[in-house]
Order: sequence, then structure tokens, then C-alpha cells
Amino acid sequence: MGTQQTIQSIRGMNDWDVSTSDRLHHIEQQAQSIFAQAGYQKIRLPVLEKTELFARAVGNHTDVVEKEMYSFSDRNDQSLSLRPEGTAGLVRAIIENGWWQQGQLLRYQYTGPMFRRERPQKGRYRQFAQFGAEVFGASNPIIDSEIIHLSYQWLEALGLKNHIQLHINTIGESADRQQYRQALIDYLNPRYDELDEDSQRRLHTNPLRILDSKIEHTQQLLQQAPQLQDFINEKSQTHFTQVLQHLDTLNIDYHLNPQLVRGLDYYNDTVFEWMSDKTGSQNTLCGGGRYDSLMAELGGKNCSAVGFAAGLERMDAFYQKFIQQTLEHHDSIYVICQASSLSSAALFVATQARKILPSIRVVCDVQLGSLKSQFKRADKSGAKIALILAQEEYAKHILILKTLRDTATQKNLLLTDMDTVLPTYFNSA
Ligand code: HAM
Repeated sequence: MGTQQTIQSIRGMNDWDVSTSDRLHHIEQQAQSIFAQAGYQKIRLPVLEKTELFARAVGNHTDVVEKEMYSFSDRNDQSLSLRPEGTAGLVRAIIENGWWQQGQLLRYQYTGPMFRRERPQKGRYRQFAQFGAEVFGASNPIIDSEIIHLSYQWLEALGLKNHIQLHINTIGESADRQQYRQALIDYLNPRYDELDEDSQRRLHTNPLRILDSKIEHTQQLLQQAPQLQDFINEKSQTHFTQVLQHLDTLNIDYHLNPQLVRGLDYYNDTVFEWMSDKTGSQNTLCGGGRYDSLMAELGGKNCSAVGFAAGLERMDAFYQKFIQQTLEHHDSIYVICQASSLSSAALFVATQARKILPSIRVVCDVQLGSLKSQFKRADKSGAKIALILAQEEYAKHILILKTLRDTATQKNLLLTDMDTVLPTYFNSA
């Protein structure tokens, strides 16, 4: 033991072990391929942006900007923040690089770390990964439905569709919300003393957020309050009706949730969340909606947009709860050699096998030792077959192929026959 004190990680930032990382990778890959197939191109953006971007895009009076950002002064006294979400940075990049022109439709997807200084608990972390998808240049309600449909397909591919519910709402245009905001303030002002502390604070900064307060008494007070639905303009109503019609056609069930307003300021019209009523308090898996004015508000062109994002760790917590299966690596090959003099030949054989089966994992035993201990490791690795280099046989360009699952069989394999024989052991290869 060293005498130095050990260093701990930062609260809410996790070291995910191999099996968790494997599941996260699986969840992420499913999303990436489903969205890629629908034409969503991958994009990579900085994790650090000017604080002003999030203040303007996400909103100064949102929880995210008000109390959850990791912000600091750079050496030139400029305030920078670790991104708490991906939408603002993408819109900034599109404007800055001139990626969007009138009449164009852009579909993007991204995966990466986000940072929010929230109170950590299961499913809520200070560093978490999001998968997100965004479409620019389409005001048509079919695009809202496409995003919802693809996110549904992702949940379906993960086997989660029976455990989730789509909550959906329309929050209309900014002018509708301004009017409603005043009506809500007028209603709640005389009841100020009865509101919980958070809602009192929000009354004059972000009163719509009071709607999704978790405090029961506040919810009781809201029962008689004016309804946002009564303030929504006709165009937005029609847009919403069409989104719902598309969802009906696509056989996606939804729950109309008039309380759903989302925690970020840039939305208009459609907002939605995929939720579970079966997991604890962190029951929102994904959220998104329309944000048709954000690009112009950040100094760019008028460009309709819609998108969503999901927390991968939260998806994983959910996946683990409902899907018992563990991801195993039965589709792999383990290369063993009888003597250390054959080590480099073993690397050569492994490389050949990888070329023949590009999607199959081929692991070379570099610890060597007795054949028995190598076989033990091969078995533990979950490999389907072992390729053994034995001195006498290898001198004649022959490998020994041993199956490790089901019934064990063993046969000789000429090096020159590897490319025809190996694929027969792997269906998907
Ligand atoms: P959001 O609802 O703030 O939306 O976050 C999306 C998802 O990120 C949540 O549903 C949740 O799964 C995950 N998430 C958020 N905070 C945490 C946390 N502290 N720990 C773990 N997971 C978390 C957005 O971020 C928008 N940018 C989504 C969007 C894209 N809207 C339009 N386009």
C-alpha cells in the first residue's frame, strides 16, 4: 500500500464498469442505427460553450441555467459552461457554419456527455450521456411524428415498449403563453401564501413551471386555475391535431397531458416525454418538442425545428429493471498457443480470423501458461470456439479448432481453409 491519500471521483460522476458500459453501448448503438437508417446524420460538437448561449437558448429562469450549470471564468475572464444539453450548441453551430439554407431539411443525431449539477440519485447524475436527434427546416407536423415514431422504435428495439407511455401536449406560440402566463399569475397571486417555496419563487420568473410542481397542495390549487389549452391559437391547435392523427395512424398510444410544459424555455407547440410509471422519481426517459424560434433568437435565420434527447444512463437503469438478459459474447473466438515460441504466430492467426469475420471478437491469450489455464480463460470469456496452435500441427500449417459451447468437438483446420470454415460457426457473420 502506498502512503499517499487516494483521490475520489466527483460526486454524481460515475466510473461505469465493463458490463454497464456494454449495456450503454448497446442502447446507444440501437438508437444510432435506427436514426441513421432514417437519414439522421451524426454530428460532434464541443462540450464547452459560452455561458451566454445557454442563458439565451435554455432560458435564464430555468432550473438548468439558474442553478445546475458548471460555469467558470476562463483565463480571459470569459464565462464558459459545460453543456447541460445538446440542442443549443447544435443551433449555434448551424448558424456559425451556415449549414442551413432556406428550403433545406437537415436531420442530425448526436451522442455525448452533458453536465448538470443536480442532486445525484439513481438515474440522475452530474455527468450523463444523451442521445439526441434534431430536424431543421420542417414545420410539417409529420416531422414531429417522425421523431416520436423513431424514438418509439428505439424503445421497442430495446424491448421496453410495454413499460412506457408517451405524454404529449401543445404549449402553443409564445404570444399564447404570454397571455396565459398573465392569467396564471392573476389567479395565483391571491393564493401566494399557499404556494410551496419553489412555486412562490417561480411565480414571477417562470410561472408555467409551477404546473409540473410535485407538491400536492400546489397541484390542488391548480385544479381551478386557468388552463393553457384555452389560450392556444388555432394554427397551433390544428398542428397538434395533425400530429396526433399521424400517431394514431402509426399505432402509437399517447396520454394527453396538459400539465406537460418541459423545463427548457425554447419550446413551442408540440412537447412530449416518454415516461414510465414503474420506476422511481426519475421516470422520464426522453423528452423533446418543437422549437421554431430558437435559431432566430440566437441571431440566425427563421428555421422550424423539432427534436428530442434521452439520457442513456436513465435508459440503462430502466433496461436493467425490465430486461433481465445480460449481454454475452458468445459470438467470439479465443486463440490459444501451446508454447511461447508460437506467440507471434498466434497474433497472426488472430489477425487473419478478424479479417475473415470483421464483426466477431477474436481474443488472443497473451498470458500463456498451461493449456488448462488458457482453456479456463477461454471458457470464462464466453467464446464460442478456440483456435489452438500446437507445435507439431502448426509446423504443418494446421490449427486445432475446438468448440466451447454446447457439445465440445475438436478438429484440425488447415490455415488456408480458415476463410471457408470459420464463417460456418457464426450465423450472423
Ligand atoms: P431534457 O428533458 O432536459 O431535454 O433532457 C433529456 C433527457 O436527458 C431526460 O429525459 C433524461 O433522460 C436525461 N437527463 C436529464 N438530466 C439528467 C441527469 N441529471 N442525469 C441523467 N439523465 C438526465 C433536453 O436536454 C433537450 N435538449 C431535448 C431536446 C432536444 N429538445 C429538443 N431537442
